[in-house]
Amino acid sequence: MKKIVLFASGTGTNAENIIVHFNKKNIGTVAAVFCNNPNAKVLDKAKKWNVPTVVFSKEEFSTDKVLQKLNSFQPDLIVLAGFLLKFPQNIIQTYPNKIINIHPALLPKYGGKGMYGMHVHRAIIENKETETGISIHFVNEHYDEGNVIFQKTVTLAGNETPEEIAEKVHQLEHQHFPEVIEKLITHNS
Ligand code: GRF
Repeated sequence: MKKIVLFASGTGTNAENIIVHFNKKNIGTVAAVFCNNPNAKVLDKAKKWNVPTVVFSKEEFSTDKVLQKLNSFQPDLIVLAGFLLKFPQNIIQTYPNKIINIHPALLPKYGGKGMYGMHVHRAIIENKETETGISIHFVNEHYDEGNVIFQKTVTLAGNETPEEIAEKVHQLEHQHFPEVIEKLITHNS
């Protein structure tokens, strides 16, 4: 059974969707949810499904304390699902090609520092884009610049609110993120 460790900072609808997906399969399991925000809703969701949680501060993140805790779960894949802090070098070097992130736009467009959550969807509207989508990519030391593994596009009518775009993007994420994770953990066995 492959072990997946999730990192999330907020609501955690993707995290819960991944937990539920792998609860139904015998190929992988979510071993833990790591979170930098003690008030994040994702922690309640993890507890609801009996997934261990680890909460740490921004300052602790780049220390070996978090790395050692992560090592204790022996992850085969580390998945960032709405995680907002920059990943530190010590974790990236320990887990080369084993950390992936989901981004709510079609990278390399609308990526980089400051491009997260509703900022992305507002920029899409400002630029009158006719489509947007999701990107799942490997994590390296630069924001949103690791190799893209998977993208899916959704067409925009042009009159959507940022919230409506967020909803369309979330639907794509929920539909495709678990299956991409599944492919990665089964191919690396
Ligand atoms: C997702 O849209 C993801 O692409 C982005 O943050 C959002 C997290 O949503 N990185 P949720 O917490 O999983 O609902």
